[in-house]
Formats: sequence, C-alpha cells, structure tokens
Amino acid sequence: DTAVPTTFKGLAGVVVDTTAISKVVPETNSLTYRGYAVQDLAAHCSFEQVAYLLWNGELPTDAELTLFMQRERAERRADRSLLGLVAKLPESCHPMDVVRTAISYLGAEDPAEADASPTANRAKSLRMMAVLPTIVAADHRRRRGLDPVAPHHSLGFAENFLNMCFGKVPDAEIVKAFEVSLILYAEHSFNASTFAARVVTSTMSDIYSAVTAAIGALKGPLHGGANEAVMHDMLEIGEPDRAEEWMRGKLARKEKVMGFGHRVYKHGDSRVPTMKEAFRDVAAHTDGEKWVRMYDILEKTMGDATGIKPNLDFPTGPAYYLMGFDIEVFTPIFVMSRITGWTAHIIEQSESNALIRPLSEYTGVPQRSVVA
Ligand code: SDX
Repeated sequence: DTAVPTTFKGLAGVVVDTTAISKVVPETNSLTYRGYAVQDLAAHCSFEQVAYLLWNGELPTDAELTLFMQRERAERRADRSLLGLVAKLPESCHPMDVVRTAISYLGAEDPAEADASPTANRAKSLRMMAVLPTIVAADHRRRRGLDPVAPHHSLGFAENFLNMCFGKVPDAEIVKAFEVSLILYAEHSFNASTFAARVVTSTMSDIYSAVTAAIGALKGPLHGGANEAVMHDMLEIGEPDRAEEWMRGKLARKEKVMGFGHRVYKHGDSRVPTMKEAFRDVAAHTDGEKWVRMYDILEKTMGDATGIKPNLDFPTGPAYYLMGFDIEVFTPIFVMSRITGWTAHIIEQSESNALIRPLSEYTGVPQRSVVA
C-alpha cells in the first residue's frame, strides 16, 4: 500500500463531530451557547441559569430555576473525608492537582458511578458543580493558614464562592465581574479539555473519569493555565512603562506570550470585550488602573508587531488578581465554570456515541527482525 495518509497535526481544522451546545464563528468573533450570544447571557443571566441552559438546552422558567438553585445549594457541602483528603495533599502541589484528585475521589465514592444515563449524569454534574467551589475555597484558605468557611445556603453560586474564599461577600461590582467571568468560561466547543472529556466518554467510561481527564488537559499553560501565566508576567513587568520593552523582548526572542493567540479565533476572541469591560470595572473599584494601562500597552505592542490578539485568559488574569485571589487558584476557577460545558459535552457524547480512535502515520524504522 503506497497511499500516503494525510495527517492533521494538532487536529487543526478537523471537524470531529457535531454538537448542539455551542457555536463559535471566528469570522464574526461570535459565540453562542444553545443559540444565545454569550454577551447577552453575561448581561442578563446568573451563572446558575447558564449552567441549566447548557445541560437542558433551554433557559429555566422561574419555577425550574428555583428548584435548580435549591438542589445546587443542597449539594454544596463537602463531607469530612473529602475535606480531609484536601487537607492531606501537600501544599507544594498545584491547586489543579487538588481539584483533579477531588473529582476522582467523588467518583470513587459514588456507588452509582457507572450509571451513565442522562438523568444520572445531570445529577452528578450538578453535584460536581456545587461542591467544587467548596473544595477550591477550602484549599485557597488552607494555603493562607485559614480554616474553611462553610457554604451558605442563602447566597448565589458566585457570592457563595467569594464568601467561602474571603470570609465576606465583596461589593456588588466585584461579584458581577466574577459572575461574568464564570459565564464566559463556561463553554467553548471542542477545546482541548472538552475533547479530552469526550475521548474518555467515548470508551463508555464514567463521567468522573472524563472530568478528571479534562482537568488534566486544562491545567497546561497553552490552555487554561494561561490565566495564571498572564498574571505572573504582569507582576514581572511591574509597571506599565516597562510593558512595551518587555513585549518587544519576548517577540525578539520568539517566546510565546501567554494570554495571546487562539487556535480558532484569528481576529480576536469573542469573549474578550465583555471580560475587558468587567476587568475595567474591577480595576476602577480596587485602585487597579495601572494593570489596565499595562494591559492596553501589551495588547497594542503585540497587535502592532504581529496582529495577534488577546484571548479570554488575558483579562481574567489581572481581574482575578485584583479581586484578591492567589494566582494559583485562577485555573481552578476556570474548572468551576467549565465543569458545566464539559459535562454537557459528556452527556451529548454518550447520547450519540462513537469510539474516538483516530489513525497515525508511522514514521519509525521499517519492519526488521530480532537478531538472536
Ligand atoms: C484557551 O481552544 C479553545 O477554545 C481554548 C479556550 C477555551 O475557552 O477553551 O479558548 C481557552 O485555552 C485560550 C488559550 C490560552 N493559551 C495561551 O494564551 C497560550 C499562548 N497562546 C499560544 O501558545 C497559541 O496562540 C495557542 C496555543 C492558544 C494556539 O496555538 P496554535 O493554534 O497551535 O497556533 P501556533 O502556536 O501554531 O501559532 C501560529 C503562529 C506562530 O507563528 P509562526 O510559527 O507561524 O511564525 O502565531 C504565533 C506562533 O508563534 N503565535 C504566538 C502566540 N500565539 C501564536 N506568538 C507569540 N505569542 C503567542 N501567544
């Protein structure tokens, strides 16, 4: 057989399957979840409404939302063994290792782990969405030498997480910006972590295994880990008047600049204008304007030199920093949001499954015989 297979490095440009969950249109920088523009959802909805939309295909009625919120609030508690597990992991590990281990533990603990019916998977998804903030916040606090704050039933999802991290609910401007970031992070078609979740699901493995794989994929700095890398860079730059020179040095050395570029968007990320606005609001509220000035200089210098635009991780990095989070918790926050998109894809994949198993083109040594 002399036919040369065609390879698609990084699966670039390959359409792997259909999905009814979200649509990315790079030509117009548009992104819709179940037909709704993300900008609309960010302006008018809570994160809980968006989670319901992703899982069920429609926004909830008032009665459906009330029930959904009651169920979410009832599932927030982490039992002592789970909190004990978190406390036992070395503080030298990255918080993404903690969330990855916690999800794996939830699977081990679930007697119905193997039940992959859509109803069971929706219930498991809600449990993961509800308990993740409790884990992330407890881990955030223990690294600061503080005891965990229990989840509060009267608070919404975003407010409750902020309260569990900081021991108080911040001002409405901060809560709103945080909620907007959760809505923008929730779903983005066949990105690397979602695809990893779908690969695992395609073998008829369980939802916890799929989410654990997705967390591993999101951790890398070419994917979700970029929001942390952005803030490390900004702190290294220190002052806006050093930003242009810093960026020119990076480009001259042909180094990747975190928070810039995207596999799908080539004219800018659909989510950035909304998040930039939220970042500006946070900066205005926290005396953080210097970070906005630095952002603008970095964006302009990169744009003028290469045409490459910021992605969503560029504004979320400094926004989370100004909200008071430690940098290493930025990617776990991405997990708290993207768990909704991942699990919607896991349910979709299992409802119309085909094993994901591509081919490879062999380039190693030709066949030979073992010489005894
Ligand atoms: C997310 O897929 C998703 O939807 C992901 C995501 C989601 O919501 O799930 O949107 C979330 O992961 C955002 C991306 C976060 N990652 C980063 O910010 C890391 C920095 N960015 C890049 O490394 C890069 O842009 C990627 C990984 C995001 C995309 O990489 P591609 O599509 O493989 O493109 P590439 O690396 O081949 O770049 C093409 C060209 C290269 O130049 P040439 O070799 O053609 O001359 O553009 C250059 C690259 O060097 N380039 C960059 C750059 N991004 C692209 N140069 C410097 N800095 C960058 N950030």
